[in-house]
Amino acid sequence: MQNYPSHIAIIMDGNGRWAENKNMPRTYGHKKGVETLKEIVKAFIEFGIPSLTVYAFSTENWKRPPKEVKYLMSLFSKTIENEAEELNQQNVQINIIGRRNNLDEKVLKNIEWIEKLTENNNKLELNIAFNYGGRAEIIDAVKKMMKNPNIDLNNINQELISKNLYNPNISNIEYIIRTGGDKRISNFLLWESAYAELYFTDTYWPEFSKNDLKKALDEFTNRKRKFGALDNGDDL
Ligand code: FPP
Repeated sequence: MQNYPSHIAIIMDGNGRWAENKNMPRTYGHKKGVETLKEIVKAFIEFGIPSLTVYAFSTENWKRPPKEVKYLMSLFSKTIENEAEELNQQNVQINIIGRRNNLDEKVLKNIEWIEKLTENNNKLELNIAFNYGGRAEIIDAVKKMMKNPNIDLNNINQELISKNLYNPNISNIEYIIRTGGDKRISNFLLWESAYAELYFTDTYWPEFSKNDLKKALDEFTNRKRKFGALDNGDDL
């Protein structure tokens, strides 16, 4: 394997516009988006990239028309039911990150079920950000820490905050790919992506292919990551 990132996050944007361009309802774009995700999961396994985090529903997505919100909730839940067996066979571990307090019973049940079913899998870690916001995640981590009587103010450091995020086992993001043409982070993984490289493509998510992924990976291998240090590694 080349020098590929070990953890990539994807903002799967452009479903709605892709469908509208075809005079189809936006929901058609989301449905096709699931098919793309299935292909991209296969490609990750083929390329040997161990971790993928995708943005499926943000804390801001509740502001969409109720019909679309309802569709996205049901698509997510049904996708879990329909794909769990194959994902399990592919040795994919599924983790859902995000707020759980305002999700409906059925969605919650499916989340817990697929996490349990796939917890020992280790080929690909697929984290699905659902009802997720980067700021919400940091707020929730702070609340969790403040409720813990064993945490002393003087001991608060990066490691402790990382441990109190939705899933303490999720590694730092090395590369963020955003499809659909916009160039912003949209409240995604604010803590975890502190040193991530960013990649933007105009391709709408339903059309994003294994080849497009390969192109993004090739670009990553050509980038020099410095983590705030100097190019040549010299100390000042
Ligand atoms: C952004 O496109 C996409 C979403 C808000 C939803 C992404 C959801 C899926 C791909 C399917 C559900 C996922 C799982 C894991 C089952 P947009 O609607 O913002 O598109 P637009 O910018 O063109 O309007």
